[in-house]
Amino acid sequence: MLGRLDQIEREALAALEKARDQEALQAWKVKYLGRSAEIGAIMEGLRELPKEQRPAVGRRANEVKRALEAAYEARLEALRQAVVARSLEQERLDVTLPGRPLPRGRVHPANQTLRQILAIWAEMGFQVYRSREVETDAYNFELLNIPAHHPARDMWDTFYTTREGVLLRTHTSPGQIHVMRERAPEPLRVVLPGMCYRYEQITARSEIQFNQVEGLAIGSRITFADLKGTLIAFAKRMFGQQVRTRFRASHFPFTEPSAEMDVECFVCGGEGCSVCKRTGWLEILGCGMVHPVVLQNGGYDPARFSGFAFGMGPERITMLKHRIEDIRYFWANDLRFLEQF
Ligand code: PHE
Repeated sequence: MLGRLDQIEREALAALEKARDQEALQAWKVKYLGRSAEIGAIMEGLRELPKEQRPAVGRRANEVKRALEAAYEARLEALRQAVVARSLEQERLDVTLPGRPLPRGRVHPANQTLRQILAIWAEMGFQVYRSREVETDAYNFELLNIPAHHPARDMWDTFYTTREGVLLRTHTSPGQIHVMRERAPEPLRVVLPGMCYRYEQITARSEIQFNQVEGLAIGSRITFADLKGTLIAFAKRMFGQQVRTRFRASHFPFTEPSAEMDVECFVCGGEGCSVCKRTGWLEILGCGMVHPVVLQNGGYDPARFSGFAFGMGPERITMLKHRIEDIRYFWANDLRFLEQF
């Protein structure tokens, strides 16, 4: 019997060596230490042995059982360590590697110019106002002295909504009426930036959406000289103290008289090139003295108040500054373009 116990011990320990994973180990435990293991049967059968053999066999059986239990625990622990060691090896991190750079966003070129324009007007005492992009025909046209069927409407091809009389604003000028009605009869100095929409063929020079910055000043003694002086001061801050400017007579139904302001072509210095189409001048805005009808529609008495207004396009100014030849780049979301600014 003692010999059998030695044999069980040897055999079990050898089998344990071969258990390479948790599953094999579990099977081993059932076989050698489980309820129907041979060692259990030997212990059960002690009573049937001759009396003098019992102590020695009993002691040895206990020894073997404890040895197997200890060997099992040791093997289990070794397997666990191996699992940990393997995952440490496989999932090793080199914390000294440099990090991956995160892509950094930047301000859209049109917004860069927009911010620059607004900062200059803010310095000159103009408050920034916002007004809606979805407008009524009344605000976009009629209150600006452009009645239905007036030929001047051809200047603004319009996106209409399915709702009668509701449209996407074609310029920021309707904001003039909103701000006047909100503030009359206070004097005003405001700029109104925002997106405008026109139902046009998209080409290198015209987009169906673009920003404008509207300006409006109203007071008791504002003259055309104030308009000129203010816009020239703006141009100097925007394009440099040396820049030359000129005003050309123009027509807008909501201003009288009306003008357009040109700055000297900063590409060729006025000599004539492809950017300025050989004229030496670049048009940057439309402007004029607020029409008495518009003042009245805004709630100001034209006998006591006068004012000037202007509208400029940041994308156009950006194109001139950076010699961008195609306005379609602005909303095409091509990073190769946007990352240059
Ligand atoms: N709203 C005009 C346009 O879109 C520009 C403008 C604004 C002209 C204010 C005069 C005064 O063309």
